[in-house]
Amino acid sequence: MRACRKPCPVTSWMSLNEVFTQVDEVMTQIIFLPHEEICPEGAVIEVEPGISICDAALRNGIEIEHACEKSCACTTCHVILREGFDTLDEADETEEDLLDKAWGLEPESRLSCQSMVGEEDLVVEIPKYTINMVSEHH
Ligand code: FES
Repeated sequence: MRACRKPCPVTSWMSLNEVFTQVDEVMTQIIFLPHEEICPEGAVIEVEPGISICDAALRNGIEIEHACEKSCACTTCHVILREGFDTLDEADETEEDLLDKAWGLEPESRLSCQSMVGEEDLVVEIPKYTINMVSEHH
């Protein structure tokens, strides 16, 4: 095996400790509260700001429903922000209209595919049912 002789662009001007510190600074923590089927133990993940809560969940193995493929046309990705609701951008009219149809709507409800993670940590509850499950069983 040949050793790499190129100077490392990162370590040449900062220590690894500084790199890790900087990486830590830009990650946002999301706590997903336990959900019987989707994440029975709950989960704590770290993501970069700018990603939607839905994508953050999916990329970390939390299979939140997203029937319209995240195009703001269903309510299956409904979540409730137990912490951090006020740090998110406001929902637009389309999202508000869809949320009205969500099962278990609360004042801190959002569609996770439309909610972009900022720099503040979040605590997210995935409701027990989605509108699809309710209409299938009733
Ligand atoms: S996945 Fe359909 S509105 Fe979010």
